[in-house]
Amino acid sequence: MKLLVCGGAGFIGSNFVRQRVREHGDEVVVLDKLTYAGRRENLADLEDEVGFSFFHGAIEDADAAADAMQGCEAVVNFAAETHVDRSIAEPDAFVKTHVVGTFVLLEAARERGMRYLQVSTDEVYGSIDEGSFTETSPLAPSSPYSATKAGADLLVASYHHTYGMQTSICRGSNNYGPYQYPEKLIPLMVLNAMHGDSLPVYGDGMQVRNWIFVEDFARGIGFTLDHGEPGEVYNVGGPDECPNIEVIERILEFTGASRDLIEHVTDRPGHDVRYSLSSDKIRALGWEPRVRFAEGLERTVSWYRDNEDWWKPTRSGDYREYYERQYGRKLA
Ligand code: NAD
Ligand code: TYD
Repeated sequence: MKLLVCGGAGFIGSNFVRQRVREHGDEVVVLDKLTYAGRRENLADLEDEVGFSFFHGAIEDADAAADAMQGCEAVVNFAAETHVDRSIAEPDAFVKTHVVGTFVLLEAARERGMRYLQVSTDEVYGSIDEGSFTETSPLAPSSPYSATKAGADLLVASYHHTYGMQTSICRGSNNYGPYQYPEKLIPLMVLNAMHGDSLPVYGDGMQVRNWIFVEDFARGIGFTLDHGEPGEVYNVGGPDECPNIEVIERILEFTGASRDLIEHVTDRPGHDVRYSLSSDKIRALGWEPRVRFAEGLERTVSWYRDNEDWWKPTRSGDYREYYERQYGRKLA
């Protein structure tokens, strides 16, 4: 299959592209705007592969989307602004990429009769105190990030309903693993622990996330592309839930850093307390997660320990400025 993968230079997209090129022999064209989170380095090992090509451009640019799409049978859209804290500070880019960008891609795919898969998030359902969200749970997003992701999901569903387009939506839970930009909880805590920087815990740290190893989510997306029913939504959740403070304690164990680094800071406004997904629907088709949290976290810590060349540039320049603005303190 020849795929257009939008946002393929980011964390999950690059893991997905690696799987499809290496394990499925797909031809893949990546279209990516290369925001602060999108890096060609994430795809460096694929640059010489036959069947891999890269277009630098934004999904909201109809000409760029049309150029990149030539000869492709399906679009898989990962392209997004993905950090909740940034969406609270500056929501503009979230609206543009998620709502306008998804619309432009849908129109271009519809014109060409292409299959379309939207990568989405459990955050569109909002927070849940007990039990787990299913695909029929109402959407109740609470941040500009999740609200604009929910808007994109509704647009995708409408293109199936109205135009009969062959669409799918995959809603993943919190991902972790290699190539994740260190603004997100796990890589931020791993690198801060390795450097002796403080570990900023929002509020009491008792918020719960449903963790999925990135390769499992990427496989779930590929699985949906290959076996999903058009017009359907599939939740792709991880096998384990864990409160943030416990995630940090485990990272301290793996890195050997001191507990004294933990610092409780002002809570995120509108902070969702718990995310939990039921993945029974995609499990019934034959997908299941392979990596439990304890193993995946250890692999992730080892990857960051072994890949200083990858993360070193991210702890300077823009990231350092972002960090100082966000946390009001300097990195070591
Ligand atoms: P990321 O921030 O690492 O990567 C996003 C990629 O999209 C980057 O390469 C960036 O350059 C690109 N991009 C951003 N705006 C673009 C635009 N307008 N045009 C073209 N490219 C653009 O994000 P990620 O964690 O890999 O997330 C990928 C997708 O998975 C997102 O849609 C996100 O909502 C979803 N998701 C993420 C998680 C998670 O825990 N990270 C969980 C569930 C779902
Ligand atoms: P994050 O990785 O930003 O993902 P999301 O908000 O999409 O779930 O955050 C995961 C959890 O960790 C969330 O409850 C917020 C919390 N958190 C902190 O306590 N400190 C931090 O510095 C960060 C980035 C997140």
